[in-house]
Amino acid sequence: MKKTILITGGAGFIGSHVVRKFVQDYPEYTIVNLDLLTYAGNLENLQDIENKPNYIFECADIADAETVDALFKKYAFDGVIHLAAESHVDRSITDPASFVRTNVQGTMVLLHAAKNLWKGNFENKRFYHISTDEVYGSLGAEGLFTETTPYDPKSPYSASKASSDHFVRAYANTYNLPIVISNCSNNYGPNQFPEKLIPLCINNITNKKSLPIYGKGENIRDWLYVIDHAAAIDLIYHKGQHGETYNIGGNNEWTNIALVRTLCKIMDNRLGREEGESEQLITYVTDRAGHDLRYAIDSSKLMNELGWKPSVTFEEGVELTVDWYLDNNDWLQNIVSGDYASYYDSMYKNK
Ligand code: NAD
Ligand code: DAU
Repeated sequence: MKKTILITGGAGFIGSHVVRKFVQDYPEYTIVNLDLLTYAGNLENLQDIENKPNYIFECADIADAETVDALFKKYAFDGVIHLAAESHVDRSITDPASFVRTNVQGTMVLLHAAKNLWKGNFENKRFYHISTDEVYGSLGAEGLFTETTPYDPKSPYSASKASSDHFVRAYANTYNLPIVISNCSNNYGPNQFPEKLIPLCINNITNKKSLPIYGKGENIRDWLYVIDHAAAIDLIYHKGQHGETYNIGGNNEWTNIALVRTLCKIMDNRLGREEGESEQLITYVTDRAGHDLRYAIDSSKLMNELGWKPSVTFEEGVELTVDWYLDNNDWLQNIVSGDYASYYDSMYKNK
């Protein structure tokens, strides 16, 4: 069926994998990627599909209601897959206001535009909100987050995402908007901005710079390969039940220190260094304020109801990731040097 789908945040890490998947797998869909190109947005992530006939890029701010309303009128979207967000916990600690603006206000603006466009006729319509496991707070040594775990966000980032989830459910309850939400654990893989733990360490190991480990490195995260998250998003968009929430995770818990040691071993091997050389770069630094101890997701609802499962083991995924960054050192260096900002001008200024 022909459809026009809005994907927000498609120039970012996860969004670029989702845009690529939808553009390639659904030639009958028109995919409109709406992204403000903040520091985290990078059109180089989409160079391989940017000339496809079913792909359109719009540079806009999701919190700008006038512009968003005009885009909803222009394209008459059938569906929305909403990923645009401020996504880095450390930045939310120094600048919470920008997280409220983009994550809360921006989500509300999109919900309202969809409600106004669809005017109660919701046949074949869907608003899919991409959220995080961080809304559930922090676990102790035992237990997993399920879809019914009470919300208990603890950072400005997770509080803004929790608030956006509440707005999405409020629009379903109040206006019958056909929504679906997923809450995912930590993603890793190609194209992740090098402020996040894994690409930051890959970059620093390559350049023999110190590897900053917050606190004692004992915090635990549940890591999922980004391609498997994109596959889950495709499945939930097409097969998920209206009004439902699906948790997505890798069933793959690592302490930060064990994860960084693993990266060091793989990188020593790839770079022809002596085993143990890169581990010497590990440096314990002041802990993140309010640092959540442990996240771990129970994905059984998604696996049992929709048949999703990860396609790669962590061992495979992390090797693919290291190799991608080593093979795409120009991509990384463009970001580190800031050159990627000029890519937008060179590609789009005359379009
Ligand atoms: P990212 O920071 O890599 O990308 C965010 C994208 O949103 C960027 O392209 C940026 O330019 C765009 N953006 C930011 N503010 C905008 C605005 N006001 N208007 C339009 N576009 C704007 O983020 P990511 O890691 O790819 O995360 C994508 C989504 O998935 C987020 O909603 C995040 O909360 C969620 N999520 C991320 C993870 C993870 O591990 N990275 C895990 C679970 C959920
Ligand atoms: O759980 C899902 C969330 O995962 C997403 O919603 C967020 O958008 C995403 O950024 C990620 O949040 P984290 O805070 O878990 O990811 P980050 O890569 O920033 O940190 C992972 C862990 O590593 C965390 O315990 C903090 C620690 N860390 C991070 C950095 C950047 C360090 O020890 N040193 C570092 O330099």
